[in-house]
Parts: sequence; C-alpha cells; structure tokens
Amino acid sequence: MEIQRIGVIGAGTMGNGIAHVFARSGYSVVLCDVEQRFLDRGLATITKNLDREVAKNKISAEDKAAALKKIEPVTDRGRLADCDFIVEAATEKFEIKTEIFRDLDRLARPEVILASNTSSISITKLAALTKRPDKVIGMHFFNPVPVMQLVEVIRGLATSPETFSETRDLAIKLDKTPVEVNDAPGFVSNRVLMPLLNEAMYTVMEGVATPEAVDEVFKLGMAHPMGPLTLADFIGLDVCLDIMRVMLDGLGDPKYRPCPLLIKMVDAGWLGRKSGRGFYKY
Ligand code: 3HC
Repeated sequence: MEIQRIGVIGAGTMGNGIAHVFARSGYSVVLCDVEQRFLDRGLATITKNLDREVAKNKISAEDKAAALKKIEPVTDRGRLADCDFIVEAATEKFEIKTEIFRDLDRLARPEVILASNTSSISITKLAALTKRPDKVIGMHFFNPVPVMQLVEVIRGLATSPETFSETRDLAIKLDKTPVEVNDAPGFVSNRVLMPLLNEAMYTVMEGVATPEAVDEVFKLGMAHPMGPLTLADFIGLDVCLDIMRVMLDGLGDPKYRPCPLLIKMVDAGWLGRKSGRGFYKY
C-alpha cells in the first residue's frame, strides 16, 4: 500500500510543523484537534512558516498554495479513518495519549501504522494499549520541524521491522534524516539534552553565572545555535520538567532530578517563550 494520506493529531507547535512538512512533500494531510480555534492557530502558523520559506526562496508561492490546499483541518477524529499513516502529536500526558491510541486503534484500518511524536513517553506502553503493537512506533520530530533535519525513529519492544522500515522511508521522503533508537526513557535526544539544560539551570540557581553568561559560553565556546537556557525557554520549561521527571522515574538515578529552580519557575507559570517569561522575558 502506498502511503498518501497522513493523519496528524494535534495542531500545536509540533503537530502543525509535522503537517507542514508532510504537505510540503506532497502528502494529503488530515490535521485533527479538539477545537476549531486550535486548528485556526495551527494553520496560521503553517502559513507564516511557509511564507518564511517563500521569502528565503526555498519554495515558490505556488508550492506554498499547493501545500496549504493539501491540509484538511478537522475536529472530528473519525475523519482520520481513511488515513494511511497517523502521527500523534497531542499534549504530552499519558492519559490523553491512552485515550487517543485506543480510539485510533478502533478507527484506523488494521494495517495502518500509528506513530507518536512523544518526547519521552514509552512507545512500548503506547503500543500495548492497541491490538496492533507491532504497528506502533515513535517518530520524534524537532522544533522547528520545518528546519530541523532529524527524525528520531523509536522502536518499541514489539515494533516490527516492517513498521520501522516504512517509518524510516517516510522520514526520508520528507527530506529528513531518520536515526534509529530503541525505546528507553528520553530516548537518545532528551536523555542527553535535558540533563544539559537542567545542569545549566543549576549554575544559574547557584549563582555561578547569569543566564546570559551561561548561554554565551555554549554559543561561543561550543557553537550551539542557542544557549541552553534560551533553548529551554524555546522548548517550554513545563516540557523540560515533565521529561526530567519521566527520566527520574523510569531510570531511577538521582542524577536526573529536576533542578529546584525549574520546578519553582513552572509553579510560577513561567513556562518560557510561550508564556512570555522564562529565563528571559519575551
Ligand atoms: N519554519 C520554517 N523555517 C524556519 C522556521 C520555521 N518555524 N524557523 C526558522 N526558520 C528558518 C529561517 O527562515 C532560516 O532560514 P535560512 O537558513 O534559509 O536563512 C533558518 O530557519 C534560521 O532561522 P533564523 O535565521 O530566523 O534564526 P536562527 O539562525 O537564529 O535559527 C533556529 C533559529 C533554527 C531555531 C536555531 O536557533 C536553532 O537551530 N536552535 C536550536 C533548536 C533546537 O535545538 N531544537 C530542538 C529542540 S528539542 C526538541 O524539539 C525535542 C523535544 O522533544 C523537546
């Protein structure tokens, strides 16, 4: 079966980026979210990011119009029933994903692969919620999705070799580079990145340096495009905290304990760029 129609659940930062890259590569996309206003906001972001690509001569104005026409926004999840491949990019809460995976398993054709863009939830656990655990896989994109080259492709314990190769091939068709990883808390990306960000927060909390100074060290000394605190604000401090907790819980090593300053900032509602305040003010 040729994959032509892609379902994307969630029109937030990651979901709209995923819809963007599939539509830009010529796939039909059914973009599903629970409320029309989330879809409107997601489509506005896709339009803005396609405009950016037109301005940089990466795509033409016709390509932009064609990509937008490929995206069908829906609030009724039943409309995903005729999709050939589904990527879930909903809120990063296990209860929410549980409901979605059970529902997708009921409504999608039995041969359809169900992929999750989760940044830290176990693929093996999501697979076990369905009657097709061999067809569940992690397809982890990076923000901003239209720009970042990587797709971390995560095999759950039961994921079949065919599911892996189809997902890998799909990532290549999106002009991305897939990297194979086995299921473990934080996979590879967040297992290594989050302790770096968390440690940078400790240096601020302990008065070793200001956020600006910490970021300068990494930008100028290690050629990172963003310093770790700017990146934490960009990812969302609540997301960083959730991932640290998943790793502490799943790996049991105290080296993964979240920085108390991170917990305090999330308690205050300082979630980074999206809330207007994090380590910096926006
Ligand atoms: N859509 C389309 N294009 C975009 C874009 C978007 N949303 N955002 C930026 N771009 C393009 C720009 O047009 C520009 O194109 P060009 O190279 O042709 O000029 C290019 O990307 C660079 O953008 P800018 O010049 O505006 O800005 P910067 O040079 O500062 O780059 C950045 C911005 C790409 C975000 C860069 O700072 C960066 O790479 N930061 C690190 C991002 C990162 O680490 N992401 C991973 C987060 S972790 C994650 O997502 C996993 C999760 O599980 C936590």
